[in-house]
Amino acid sequence: MEAILKVIGPPFLVMNGFVLFILLLISLLRRFIAAYGESTLTINGEKKLVVRGGQTLAQALFAEKIYIPSACGGRGTCGFCKVRITVGAGEALPIEEMLLNYSDVAAGYRLSCQTKVRNDLSLEVPEELLAIREYKGVVEDTKELTRDIKRLSIDIREPKDVFAFRSGQYVLIQVGPTETRAYSVSSSVRLKDEIQVEVKLIPNGLGSSYLHRLGEGDEVTFFGPYGQFFLQDTHHKIICVAGGVGLAPMKPIIEDALFRYPNRDVELYYGCNDLADLYDHETFIALNEKAERFSYYPALSELPAEPPRGYPIEEGFVHLAIERNLTRGEDSEAYLCGPPLMIDAVIKVLMAKGVPEIRILYDKF
Ligand SMILES: Cc1cc2nc3c(=O)[nH]c(=O)nc-3n(C[C@H](O)[C@H](O)[C@H](O)COP(=O)(O)OP(=O)(O)OC[C@H]3O[C@@H](n4cnc5c(N)ncnc54)[C@H](O)[C@@H]3O)c2cc1C
Ligand code: FES
Repeated sequence: MEAILKVIGPPFLVMNGFVLFILLLISLLRRFIAAYGESTLTINGEKKLVVRGGQTLAQALFAEKIYIPSACGGRGTCGFCKVRITVGAGEALPIEEMLLNYSDVAAGYRLSCQTKVRNDLSLEVPEELLAIREYKGVVEDTKELTRDIKRLSIDIREPKDVFAFRSGQYVLIQVGPTETRAYSVSSSVRLKDEIQVEVKLIPNGLGSSYLHRLGEGDEVTFFGPYGQFFLQDTHHKIICVAGGVGLAPMKPIIEDALFRYPNRDVELYYGCNDLADLYDHETFIALNEKAERFSYYPALSELPAEPPRGYPIEEGFVHLAIERNLTRGEDSEAYLCGPPLMIDAVIKVLMAKGVPEIRILYDKF
């Protein structure tokens, strides 16, 4: 045997090595082609898009003008970008399993910002997402509302007079070459050629710092409208609860509610840390006086030693103001917007007051 190996050994080993090398090359090429070749995306069983492989599904859809929502800039932390892949979904990544529940994953839901396009995919994309458009506008005006919240008024230039949203919804504003951030629209649903957003500056925050730097005449690109958080067409009393810049979507909701529903009462509970954070206070005091169906309850967790005279300001967290003042909970529906801890505390109080959980809508940020 040894003698035979001695005779055929070197050419045999060379041959084996060569075969192995070819196999490795084919496998590498396969991976390369699979990653960077073209793939077909079939949307809702009809529309077929041929896209470049290797990019994320969110990027591929974005390039085809299908604007999937995102609240984390594609970092895989918000879960907003989930889409249902009916054919071709690979294994979910651990990062996806943290945000999607077991039945979502089993049904083919994946985070489009984490899913690489490597093969043909069939997707289900809700019609309302297919209707989302890109808008280009120009900053018309800016206003410092508090030490860290700025309002931007954006004149929509392209396409003109078509932007429509439901009160409470948000838009995604482009804040970098491939980065977007979510901002609630704070202006009236009746405005078609302008939107306002209110942005709290987050130290070292990419999007908020970018938007705070913008001034009159600067261009803005945004996408929208997005979100299931909007005024529902029911007969229930409306409870709005805002923390800090969470006041932004409450303004169109309150305006829309008072305009459209002559028989629905509206209450606003607005919580801030201290007096310097409270904005649009005078506007709501005036509305409270003017509109019989509207009641306003501001609350400060740090009330100054000498509180301002005139309109009463509650002391303590906003959920305590609700505990003290809300009546007819079982008759109400609630819209909550603010930091996660505030939302969790408010939900508990609202449910204890009889507001059914299904009628509590919120956006946490
Ligand atoms: C549906 C929706 C609507 C929103 N509407 C508004 C709005 O109307 N106005 C508004 O100002 N924001 C709103 N946000 C939040 C907004 O989208 C951004 O997340 C926020 O502006 C921070 O983005 P950034 O790019 O400045 O910070 P990033 O660069 O994303 O983050 C920088 C760092 O700050 C941390 N960070 C992020 N947010 C906060 C925070 N609130 N407090 C403390 N640390 C934070 C991050 O974890 C990170 O470490 C909304 C979010 C959602 C999901
Ligand atoms: S964009 Fe936030 S998880 Fe995908």
